[in-house]
Amino acid sequence: MLVSAKEMLTKAKEGHYAVGQFNINNLEWTKAILLTAQEMNSPVILGVSEGAGKYMCGYKTIVGMVNGMIEGLGITVPVALHLDHGSYEGALKCIEAGFSSVMFDGSHYPIEENIEKTKELVRITNELGLSLEAEVGSIGGEEDGVVGAGECADPDECKMIADLGVTMLAAGIGNIHGKYPANWPGLSFDTLDAIQQKTGAMPLVLHGGTGIPAEMIKKAIDLGVSKINVNTECQLAFAAATREYVEAGKDLQGKGFDPRKLLAPGTEAIKATVREKIELFGSANKA
Ligand code: 13P
Repeated sequence: MLVSAKEMLTKAKEGHYAVGQFNINNLEWTKAILLTAQEMNSPVILGVSEGAGKYMCGYKTIVGMVNGMIEGLGITVPVALHLDHGSYEGALKCIEAGFSSVMFDGSHYPIEENIEKTKELVRITNELGLSLEAEVGSIGGEEDGVVGAGECADPDECKMIADLGVTMLAAGIGNIHGKYPANWPGLSFDTLDAIQQKTGAMPLVLHGGTGIPAEMIKKAIDLGVSKINVNTECQLAFAAATREYVEAGKDLQGKGFDPRKLLAPGTEAIKATVREKIELFGSANKA
């Protein structure tokens, strides 16, 4: 059964570790992440962007697939199915389809409008026992065609949104989606510290987990980050392993063209990436 992310993140904040959100793109992705979380006895959050939602034929298809896998694979660790960077309308659709968690990304609205829409979703998600992530200060990089520059959130605005009763808060601290450029100055720990001081027990979310050095991840967790999102890194690992298989000509040997064989190295590569992150984030054996 899918669960809200509230309990797993409250425990993570108290226990000074972080739960990984791994974005899914298809059946292999979902299976790899669920099996690895189970193997490591770790809670896990499956992230679905609106673009990935369309790709996978709508939110209902995803809810059916994930619930079926939890049962079919015998997954017993806590699993939240979460909309990533949702619009207001997208969040409502996911709630209706059976997601256990949603993110409303109102960071591109003026703060008053972000507050109004977040407030309405706090009411709805509270009534249904679902978790809600809000965002202040847009995360840089490209996601679903939207490019942001990697802002640092205003700690007072973070407090305003946190006080609305959201479950977790994503705040820009110079992080960006996708690969980091060579001249990236790193995370702004001063900003993170100031946000954490103002928002207290609120679990903070670090987006753009791909390519952030381990030491920075650990410091961010020390400063109150309890959820870390990883997407691109699994995609890169999948692509590299698939390339290696094809370049070695394995698809031309025997039944190597069988999709179950062709996609297996990529699936294993996702598992290895997720395993490494769960270890780094400290959520192993915290299910
Ligand atoms: P990356 O693709 O950089 O890992 O970011 C993932 C993310 O933040 C999803 O919201």
